[in-house]
Amino acid sequence: MDYRREYLRDLLASGPRAGAEAYGWVKTRRDSKGVSFVQLNDGSCFADLQVVVPAGTLDAQGFEGVTNGACVRFGGQLVESQGGGQSIELLADSLTVYGPADPAAYPLQKKGASMEFLREIAHLRARGNTFGAVNRVRNRAAWAVHRFFQERGFVWVNTPVITASDCEGAGQMFAVTTALDPHLQDGKYRLAEPDPAEDFFGKPAYLTVSGQLNVETLAHGLTNVYTFGPTFRAENSNTPRHLAEFWMVEPEQAFCDIEGNMNLAEEFVRTVIGEVLEACPADLEFFNQRIEQTLLDTLHHVVDSPFERMTYTEAVHLLEGSGEAWEFPVAWGSDLQSEHERWLTEKKVGRPVILTDYPREIKAFYMRQNDDGKTVRAMDVLVPRIGELIGGSQREERLDRLEARLDELGMPKEPYWWYLDLRRYGSAPHAGFGLGFERLVMYLTGMKNIRDVVPFHRTPGDAEF
Ligand code: 4AD
Ligand code: MG
Repeated sequence: MDYRREYLRDLLASGPRAGAEAYGWVKTRRDSKGVSFVQLNDGSCFADLQVVVPAGTLDAQGFEGVTNGACVRFGGQLVESQGGGQSIELLADSLTVYGPADPAAYPLQKKGASMEFLREIAHLRARGNTFGAVNRVRNRAAWAVHRFFQERGFVWVNTPVITASDCEGAGQMFAVTTALDPHLQDGKYRLAEPDPAEDFFGKPAYLTVSGQLNVETLAHGLTNVYTFGPTFRAENSNTPRHLAEFWMVEPEQAFCDIEGNMNLAEEFVRTVIGEVLEACPADLEFFNQRIEQTLLDTLHHVVDSPFERMTYTEAVHLLEGSGEAWEFPVAWGSDLQSEHERWLTEKKVGRPVILTDYPREIKAFYMRQNDDGKTVRAMDVLVPRIGELIGGSQREERLDRLEARLDELGMPKEPYWWYLDLRRYGSAPHAGFGLGFERLVMYLTGMKNIRDVVPFHRTPGDAEF
């Protein structure tokens, strides 16, 4: 719901309103004969409020300071608009300029500035149309995530950000240490020699790559749970789809197999999209017009049609027979690349696809092994434009199989003692998945680069702001 416009319309129902106030940042100012028009926005909704200033009336109150980017308050009368384009405007009779913005220096002047340029002024871009809309959509999506699980009786649990175990076993973790604390020694500033035994936790610790291992313990007791929080990966992927710090939604269900897991994932994605479509019409309309012209059609289509499902093996056959010239070769047993995932979902199927039963060599140690000895009960949800949106699986609940897998992979069992205990005492069949929240926001907005759907991105070589 476009709160501000509705609100103002309600206010106006009984006629013009004197004594109204509007706060915000100036988007544009246009002076014409006898009157000036100021577009004001406070970020509460996409629409600007038009402020009408008869010439000369506010000069003594500093009207020359009303330039793009300035922070101001106007007082006046709220009226039905005389001109077209907007239904409501403020006929101003008083002004406070809280924070002027030197027009010669203000960086956010240019209309149509590139996304790359806006990234360099990420501390100011929240005032622009695009980033206001991105953040409002992100907010509604987060709300819809919680609502989806809360309405279905899932318990939101908070898993630790600092961990000593590598969930994905992929070695992409950031170390957390106090051993490198810089300090003064003999009057000189220096870094300490790291010694894990002397370190804060008494052993190596890292930022989590996924809350899954912890969330599995909570599913063994609360049955249906989810986490929604930050995760970190030190993979050196400079792509439009990877961040070093991102948010993940991770539901986990006891007494659930891969079918139930896929059903939940599909219902989840479709419900959240449907809710954002309803909640953010003005913002999505903007993205549809300015960022991605197929956006609204795509989102409605996703809400209305079931996802395709196929095995990894079937997908490899399709890719091999596609006649496409792949940059990365397709062969059973190797991981699918973004180009393969996108071909499947964009060209072959034309809607989201869930791939299952991947070769065990390319998936994490915790996935439930199939009887064929070659594949595991993995499931990835692939969507057009993004590729992988969700990765999940049914988990290996059998102690002997899990231990054997850790041994095969040469992974130490000691750090996973508590994870193995779950299988030792009251093990339950269970399954879950992780949805990359920024990828969902990319999908919802049509934004092309994941760096532009977080307020401040963390990527290789870049931790400004
Ligand atoms: O497929 P992933 O690696 O799965 C897991 O971490 C499981 N432990 C989740 C689970 O079963 N509970 O990551 C899940 C999702 C991906 O599908 C992708 O959307 C997102 O997280 N993701 C990233 N998003 C942004 N930047 C990155 N570097 C990402 N890596 C993964
Ligand atoms: Mg994955």
